Amino acid sequence: MYRKLMALSGAGMLLSASALAVHAQIVEPTTPPDPPVFPAQSEPVFVGISDIMEYRALDAYHEPEWVKENFVDTGKLPPVEERLPKEPLVYKAGNMPDGIGTYGDVMRHVIGGRPEGWNYIAGQSQGWGGIDIGMMECLTRVGPLFTVKADEVEPMPNLAKSWEWSEDGHQLTMQLIEGAKWSDGDPFDADDVMFYWEDHVLDPNVSPLNGATADTFGGKGTKLEALDDYTIRWTFEEAFPEQYLYQMAYGTFCPGPSHILKPEHPKYSDNTYDQYQNAFPPEFMNWPVMGAWVPVEYRSDDIVVLRRNPYYWKVDEEGNQLPYLDEVHYKLSTWADRDVQAVAGTGDFSNLEQPENYVESLRKAADDNAPARLAFGARTIGYTVYPNLSANGWGSPDARGQAIRELNRNLDFRKAITHALDRQRLGEALVKGPFTAIYPGGLYSGTSFYDKESTVYYPYSVETAQAQLEKAGLTDTDGNGIVNFPEDAEGVGGQDVEIVMLINGDYQTNRSLAEGIIAMMERIGLRVVLNIQNSNTEQDLLQGGKFDWALFRNSEELATALKFTERLAPVGPRSTWTRRAGTDGTLDLLPFEEEMVEVVNAFTSSRDNQERLELMKKYQKLYTENLWAIGVTQYPGALIINKRFANIPAGAPIFMFNWAEDNIIRERVYVPKDKQQDYELFAETLPGEPGADGPVN
Ligand code: GLA
Repeated sequence: MYRKLMALSGAGMLLSASALAVHAQIVEPTTPPDPPVFPAQSEPVFVGISDIMEYRALDAYHEPEWVKENFVDTGKLPPVEERLPKEPLVYKAGNMPDGIGTYGDVMRHVIGGRPEGWNYIAGQSQGWGGIDIGMMECLTRVGPLFTVKADEVEPMPNLAKSWEWSEDGHQLTMQLIEGAKWSDGDPFDADDVMFYWEDHVLDPNVSPLNGATADTFGGKGTKLEALDDYTIRWTFEEAFPEQYLYQMAYGTFCPGPSHILKPEHPKYSDNTYDQYQNAFPPEFMNWPVMGAWVPVEYRSDDIVVLRRNPYYWKVDEEGNQLPYLDEVHYKLSTWADRDVQAVAGTGDFSNLEQPENYVESLRKAADDNAPARLAFGARTIGYTVYPNLSANGWGSPDARGQAIRELNRNLDFRKAITHALDRQRLGEALVKGPFTAIYPGGLYSGTSFYDKESTVYYPYSVETAQAQLEKAGLTDTDGNGIVNFPEDAEGVGGQDVEIVMLINGDYQTNRSLAEGIIAMMERIGLRVVLNIQNSNTEQDLLQGGKFDWALFRNSEELATALKFTERLAPVGPRSTWTRRAGTDGTLDLLPFEEEMVEVVNAFTSSRDNQERLELMKKYQKLYTENLWAIGVTQYPGALIINKRFANIPAGAPIFMFNWAEDNIIRERVYVPKDKQQDYELFAETLPGEPGADGPVN
């Protein structure tokens, strides 16, 4: 019987493609299947923001004994109360999962990225994995919002300690923390904020690390001015665009140390923009930060070591200056090694996010004696294929590239791609079990704005995909299994359709998914070849428009709709990463993209929750029905953290408003005295002068 069936299907394969199309079962779009149930393994304790923190002067302040003895008592540092701002940020003990902490020990991270240098506001990456998150502070903070009650969710104050809207809602006045200092003792004030805004966000020749542009804050009509050293005022074209408070958090509004950057910036020096960007290579030590830890040691392909910032401006309720951890390590390895080391106990932290490692990690963590705990959260990791929809010169494509862009803009072609994806199989190839779910694209199913009925899913069907390709004018005219451009296609007439897909090779998951996608595209006659880059160059190519398709791990906007909202649609010439203006500065938007932009703009300026929910339904429909981009898979990640650490909040997701390195509030994390280990490489030392070699004691 089995043999007979095989023979029959073999005979079927001899039928010509057109005969197949006639008998083919063409499938219709539907709603996506419900994802397999996968309950988060720990739930957050929901609180208000004022339960977590406040700004207040305390009667007395404390710091590690050795800092006082070796640095303050010897006159190397002013007393701690003089190093703190007038009113430090105070974390309340009642919200600390294990209460007031104690000083000492190290958090040993492992990362797959490599630092390009320290000039993050000119776009240099420090290698990711939370190294930059621990160094930079931003006007507001959103990572910990996963633990804030739904009806009280709004960005937390941070460098901006309070703000007020004008009556008409067009002006937002912010008070900065007063008297805080960079880690080298230089005052932090509105100069740093204005330097970031004027000479980075508004300067088109330079782009901060996470790509903030004027579009991030409402476009060219938005103004920012300093009223005095500690007061800044925004003016927006819209009334009450509270949404921008989210964009003032990590990634997009974290000022750099203007006192050492400004003299190198092309506007104030003879440097080129390139020279400016590269003025502070990884070897430059003691880079001034507002964050909890300062880089004091860099060994190429080996490790970056950071020590406590003696001017850090956050304390606990008993007046102990934070952070509790004196040192943090970033071993320069691979992302997969981060999982392995965290589970084995030779590293302390990992965002388990590559499903290929799930089964082994789970098995090892299940042992009672395992050094690390592992907890899964919601399904907030997802991958999407972004077709480059720009046909007016963005990224200067050649004739082939241009022809692909034209195809990308054709809905029939995008339908062919989505129908050709066997998402079930792609997910299972990563990991078997209830982890991965079919992802049509757009907002994740676990997001509060998600609506299944508004989500259009084009089921897997090779026949339908082939029929769609034909509709798009593509047939295999030379019989080599790959469809050809029509004879009259400009510059590429009759050639095989070959698509270059950009991926980041630092992650095995990207490679695994890409391989699956290549095979599935080949089945319908599309040849996909890979352009494999690392994290840093991938970003450059994406933002420069140098791709036909990009397979990309999604960013925060699809997990919350609130963070990076401007990336949900091309609301401005540079608001998203995959869809930017062409050489003439304009966006050649397709009609449905115009609608997406309207919806996202309405969402940004709405303060009515019901209306916002409705708008996101519309958004989801526009995105998934028109296949703005093509979703592949979504799955949950797990936080792995060594058991000796205290104050890890319950239910901390590895990714939501930000990554776990922000979410867990690392400056509050500590190791109880009886569990402390001897991992410090630079015990009892502090960062030295910027540019000097290493720490001082
Ligand atoms: C990388 C890692 C993530 C997370 C972020 C933090 O992207 O893959 O797990 O650590 O860095 O920026």
